[in-house]
Amino acid sequence: MSGAPWWQPGSAEEAEWVARDRQATWHPATHFVDQELMPALPIARAQGAYLETPSGARIFDAISSWWTCLHGHGHPHIARALSRQFEALDHVMFAGFTHRPAICLSEQLIARAPAPKAPYSRVFYADCGSAAVEVALKMSLQYRQQTGEPERLGLATLSNSYHGETLGALAVSGNAAYRERFQSLLFPTLTLPVPAGEHHQLADLEAGLGEHAEETERAIQLLTEHAPRLTALLIEPVIQCAGRMVMPGVGMYRALVSAAQRLGIHVIADEIAVGFGRTGRLFASEWGRPGEPPVQPDFLCLSKGLSGGVLPLSAVLVRAGIDAAFEGDPARSFLHSHTFTANPLACAAALASLELFDREGTLERVGVLSRTLERLRCQVAEAAGPVVTAHRQAGLVAALCLTPPESWSSPAGPGRLGLALRGEALRRGVLLRPLHDTIYWMPPYCVTEAELERLADVTLECIRAVVS
Ligand SMILES: Cc1ncc(COP(=O)(O)O)c(C=O)c1O
Repeated sequence: MSGAPWWQPGSAEEAEWVARDRQATWHPATHFVDQELMPALPIARAQGAYLETPSGARIFDAISSWWTCLHGHGHPHIARALSRQFEALDHVMFAGFTHRPAICLSEQLIARAPAPKAPYSRVFYADCGSAAVEVALKMSLQYRQQTGEPERLGLATLSNSYHGETLGALAVSGNAAYRERFQSLLFPTLTLPVPAGEHHQLADLEAGLGEHAEETERAIQLLTEHAPRLTALLIEPVIQCAGRMVMPGVGMYRALVSAAQRLGIHVIADEIAVGFGRTGRLFASEWGRPGEPPVQPDFLCLSKGLSGGVLPLSAVLVRAGIDAAFEGDPARSFLHSHTFTANPLACAAALASLELFDREGTLERVGVLSRTLERLRCQVAEAAGPVVTAHRQAGLVAALCLTPPESWSSPAGPGRLGLALRGEALRRGVLLRPLHDTIYWMPPYCVTEAELERLADVTLECIRAVVS
């Protein structure tokens, strides 16, 4: 690794933004100490797959800005929809009012949800992924109270899962690092084992992987034992994204969902990260062996790419019939509200994003790009040698896990492999944000084949520069 800094302000203006930022703001998922090595980068513009600093340096966004951006930054179709919507209606409270973008979006989501039986009858909106998860679990719990099963209070979740960081969402997340400090505030859950999911290949999306894994069988056994006290199972279909992009298998997902539903346990599918085409289908719950019908969770949580990735918005699709339990006496109403619920601008962006899927043949494009990514991932893994101990992919999400030799020490400090790789990538004009030892790619769908080739080259250079 060379001694040059990973990133330096390109102008006096940038240096000033960095200094003022450090004084006044507090960034998520950022250690203060790391800001010495890598300050929060000022970004002034973004277009397509690139972010741009005020002085004009371009950074290739290989992770879709935390898995949000779908069609590319600043897409003109979404920009026009936003501008039209802003002129007509910027915001109105959603309690007691409604508007065309929300109505049309609800209809669109219900129509596009995993077919064939159009299982959803209503959409409940919130403004972030964690809030959507909390809506779903509260709704499930209240449903039990109003349908004569008040003893069904428990929630089952998977180890290594991530559903957000507000207290309710954190309580159902399996990742110890996020939970540790707040354990005393979290309610208990039943945690189910999950297959290691380290070597998932593109073709495994249609192969039933994980169906008969030991962990799947144990998880079903636990669900069966605890069923009378469980209201819902929370699960991330196909990829545990924050859990180092572990891919436990479509077969495992389908087996758990079908066991839970057979036992009368609601399934809350968290497609917040994997929804809207990331795995190659609009929803990851659509995958299965050829001819198998899609999985139909009782609650489907969506966010991130929902608005095309341009504005905060989340939604919970609710299975038909569940809403009936909330009718009648006002005391049976579902009380949960966020100020910006169903913001018209965010809904208009979401509608424009869905239109792009139809107009631009987005899913076909993701399919083609996924195959290129598969070739490149295998090439990088082979060229990097034994340091890459596992690599995997589902759709346009690929991951490479590194195990440095025992003698290796991180240039970014003990245990900071991810940070060192991130720095090297930034030096080469690429945004990578490895999850500890796992480098992953999740580019926006506007990416070109040539940009993917360059991403692979840069990734290999970074691995060689950091772990050599
Ligand atoms: C699967 C999953 N669920 C929930 C969340 C939480 O979403 P938010 O950060 O918008 O609260 C995330 C965020 O990364 C996620 O990946």
